[in-house]
Amino acid sequence: MIDLLKGEMENPDRHHVTRASGLRGYYANEPELERLIQTRHDPVHYEVFEHKVPAEAGHVMFGISKLQPGLIGQECFFTKGHYHTILATGETYLCLAGQGLMLMRTPEGDFACEEFVPGRLVYVPPCWGHRSVNTGSAPLVTLFQYQGDAGHNYGNIVDEGFPRRVYLRGGKIVLD
Ligand SMILES: [Fe+2]
Repeated sequence: MIDLLKGEMENPDRHHVTRASGLRGYYANEPELERLIQTRHDPVHYEVFEHKVPAEAGHVMFGISKLQPGLIGQECFFTKGHYHTILATGETYLCLAGQGLMLMRTPEGDFACEEFVPGRLVYVPPCWGHRSVNTGSAPLVTLFQYQGDAGHNYGNIVDEGFPRRVYLRGGKIVLD
């Protein structure tokens, strides 16, 4: 069961919590991230709720991602983003609540971006790294599904980032 009001999975097998301090090295404005960590006691940045299925080809891993809203300076809150360990595996993200963007990149530096609004399913093709961005004022909640043995690879995202960042400037969402 998924609690659609809370944007959470009931009785998940795994509940991963990433706090603001887990994003050190990812945002453009490091001092503003440190200020958030210090002044708001390292708040929860995003959570992942997963049901346990075997990490094997043929199975489908699924769960809920819940990303809090907010800004680091003018930059919208985002997830670290990742490639899959088995690079050539795709994923679907169905937006259940909130609004945002899915940033996608290839190891070669190609870039794509898709919008999240409730009811919109974003398809991440094989080989594309992906990062969710919350552009709204409420949690961005998505239901994801991917091949059971795909795995996560955060390796070079922290160094290379994504080709574009998402900012709220003058009341408008801007990719820069
Ligand atoms: Fe993924």
